[in-house]
Amino acid sequence: MTQSALPTSNSVTNTAASHVTPDNTVALCSAEATSENARIRSQFPALNQMLDGYPLCYLDTAATSQKPQIVLDAMAQYYTNDNANVHRAAHQLSARSTLNYEKVRDQLQQFLKAKRREEIIFTHGTTESINLVAFGLSTQLSAGDMILIDSAAHHANIVPWQELAKRTGAVIKPIPLMQDCRLDINAYKTLLELKPKIVALCHVSNALGTVNPVAQLVQLAKAQGAITLVDGAQAVAHLTLDMTKIDCDFYVFSGHKMYGPTGVGVLYGRFECLDSLTPLMTGGEMIKRVSFEATEFGSLPNRLEAGTPPIAEVIGLGAAITFLQTELTPQVQAYETELLTYLQTQLRALGEVHLYGSLDNNIGVVAFNLANEHHQDVGILLDQQGIAVRCGHHCAMPLMQSLNLKGCCRASIGIYTNKQDIDRFISALTSVKDLLL
Ligand code: ALA
Repeated sequence: MTQSALPTSNSVTNTAASHVTPDNTVALCSAEATSENARIRSQFPALNQMLDGYPLCYLDTAATSQKPQIVLDAMAQYYTNDNANVHRAAHQLSARSTLNYEKVRDQLQQFLKAKRREEIIFTHGTTESINLVAFGLSTQLSAGDMILIDSAAHHANIVPWQELAKRTGAVIKPIPLMQDCRLDINAYKTLLELKPKIVALCHVSNALGTVNPVAQLVQLAKAQGAITLVDGAQAVAHLTLDMTKIDCDFYVFSGHKMYGPTGVGVLYGRFECLDSLTPLMTGGEMIKRVSFEATEFGSLPNRLEAGTPPIAEVIGLGAAITFLQTELTPQVQAYETELLTYLQTQLRALGEVHLYGSLDNNIGVVAFNLANEHHQDVGILLDQQGIAVRCGHHCAMPLMQSLNLKGCCRASIGIYTNKQDIDRFISALTSVKDLLL
């Protein structure tokens, strides 16, 4: 395997993973870890299927995770028994729906260690959450103000800021990455001296899985007076989150990447930061008083939740949080780390594989290309053996450009992934290699 596909200054290093143990298969193969993994995996019905005669091997969790039965049941239960709009009616069904919907806000307050329940806003996903903040800050920016964006960000954490810059005359500056695609902290510190108004970071890169030291980055930004937003879409299924430690102004994520449903997301914000946002969406639910002359907006959280919310999805998200709080133990997190290391090691051993990013600082994701073969061809040939990976630019075109790539394949793991998945993937990739090279 070559160390890097990149002739550019942004080429990657494939340093040995620091958490590789002398025998990195010990925990993966221990009876206890294997049976715990099997117990967790059995809760995901979609994993138990055949594709063209091959058992499904799902390595696309970073795009969307599979859903455990508890989430499917919670949503079915809502539609079967409680279906009613929230906050609107005198009848019992609406009271039950409202109670169950608002309980999830309390769950999230606890899950994120937020100070107040009003700091949790339900949206339709990460993209909407970031748009809500970027639009909401329009009146707080002026021409020439600077917005710093993580160069590893996906499009959801780039385009809304560009639109904000167009509206206000603000200027976007990408925060450079180092050779191994980790954020360049020295360059970041230098940019912070220019007193940016906003700093938009990702917690974990969706394309490479690189983990940012967000608490440190946020602290540095705050010392220069910047408003901070952290995109946690790829972090929330793997890490334990604590807003008192990260200390950012806004933290956003989607339900569907954390074993919950599509169509629901979260915007966490410090109360005073959320309260200062101009609402992007207006209409019912977010008002206190309306006349044809004027409207008085309501208070948080409703102020930022116009219209009928995604009620069933929020309830499904609540079940996903219960699932994570029960199942994502430190042992399970350690198992995921070992599995990722095993995946990297096996890919390395295969040869003719380019790996991207800093491999000792990753969560959930391995980005790779097979020699100079087109990523799409590799993905299709893997799919013919029941292996699901994502191929393309991973909604991170600027990052791909800096890597001098049109795209790559990405294998991503979740709480249900097991060693057999990795072995099957490597064996399928070996046959693709034999066919193409
Ligand atoms: N952002 C999603 C991904 O990484 C869609 O695949």
